[in-house]
Amino acid sequence: MIKYIGSKRVLVPHIVRGVSAFPESGRVLDLFSGTSRVARGLKESGRYVIANDHLTYAATLARCYIQADATRWLEESTRLIAELAETPGEPGYFTKAFCEDARYLQPHNGARVDAIREEIARRRLPPELEAIALVSLMEAADRVDSTTGLQMAYLKRWAARSFNDLELRVPAILPGPGEALQLEAVDAAAQVDADVAYIDPPYNQHSYMGNYHVWESLVRWDKPATYGIANKRIQCKDYKSDFNSKRRIHAGLRAVLDAVRCKHLLVSFNNEGYVERDDMIEVLSEKGHVGHVAVDFKRYVGAQIGIHNLDGEKVGEVSHLRNKEYLFVVSERRETVDAVLRALEQSIGKASLASGAAERKRETHESERSLER
Ligand SMILES: C[S@@+](CC[C@H](N)C(=O)[O-])C[C@H]1O[C@@H](n2cnc3c(N)ncnc32)[C@H](O)[C@@H]1O
Repeated sequence: MIKYIGSKRVLVPHIVRGVSAFPESGRVLDLFSGTSRVARGLKESGRYVIANDHLTYAATLARCYIQADATRWLEESTRLIAELAETPGEPGYFTKAFCEDARYLQPHNGARVDAIREEIARRRLPPELEAIALVSLMEAADRVDSTTGLQMAYLKRWAARSFNDLELRVPAILPGPGEALQLEAVDAAAQVDADVAYIDPPYNQHSYMGNYHVWESLVRWDKPATYGIANKRIQCKDYKSDFNSKRRIHAGLRAVLDAVRCKHLLVSFNNEGYVERDDMIEVLSEKGHVGHVAVDFKRYVGAQIGIHNLDGEKVGEVSHLRNKEYLFVVSERRETVDAVLRALEQSIGKASLASGAAERKRETHESERSLER
């Protein structure tokens, strides 16, 4: 699974248990699906999932993990990926932009990416099959990249894993139907009827288009003009999400909440984000009763390893290594909020016990259910 800021990898089982505790949860809309990890967990639990993200690479992950039905596509994609893996390397746009002018991958792997991507384009595949092939290529590149997880500045000395050969694997797609959308969250919220909406927006200035521009260019294959040391697509300069702006995030959130047509909401946010916990509770309480749990979390990888210069040398210290992920539960009925909070607490509590953190249990999660409408 790819490295991604704000990914809810560790929270997926808890989110799935929380969603299951709503009285209706057969159809779930994930409005900011990112890697599709949460949406995939929900699909695996037997729900019909609609996953939305405005970026092309994220919508491609959703088409692969949510929309593609393994009973229809697994055999064909396994054959296709085996054939693609035989494609000999041939340097092109990707190698020049991201392996010579910038240092995302080593050039021998860049040449494989170029050749495989051209072959995928040449075959004019049906959307689901193309998405599975593209995700296989993205994940293969991610395993041999030379970044600290962000595609903004690269290590001056090649990372150890970047010396490995790029290896395509078949993504772990699931049987059953689902849908992928590539819309602004507010439009997806207005268009989709579902029982539960899972809402996990960006929470600070870091733009996903900028942080993951290599994947956006790889998936779109539009070979754009680039700028700066990381060779970002030119479009990164003016493609901004409301959720990356301290000034606009409140209005962006309100617009999504006004538009959303689901009975129940589960909202993820971080205690270091642009919206304070109490402000979030106030905004959400317009939609129903609100409760939340807080989960103690490791900070993202950039923060874990400290502040580095382009030579990969540590030049700064990190203020703290842990933060909190909030899960807000919103529903018309108070009892429903209580039931979902109980399910979340049980799930998180069990996980911290199982990981031997019994004595830290009280620190690792807390909950409040104090709000009235
Ligand atoms: C915190 S991440 C979601 C992480 C995801 N839950 C996971 O576990 O991988 C936020 C996502 O919101 C997407 N996004 C940002 N602004 C958006 C908008 N206005 N409409 C739709 N998606 C947006 C970003 O592309 C990013 O993938």
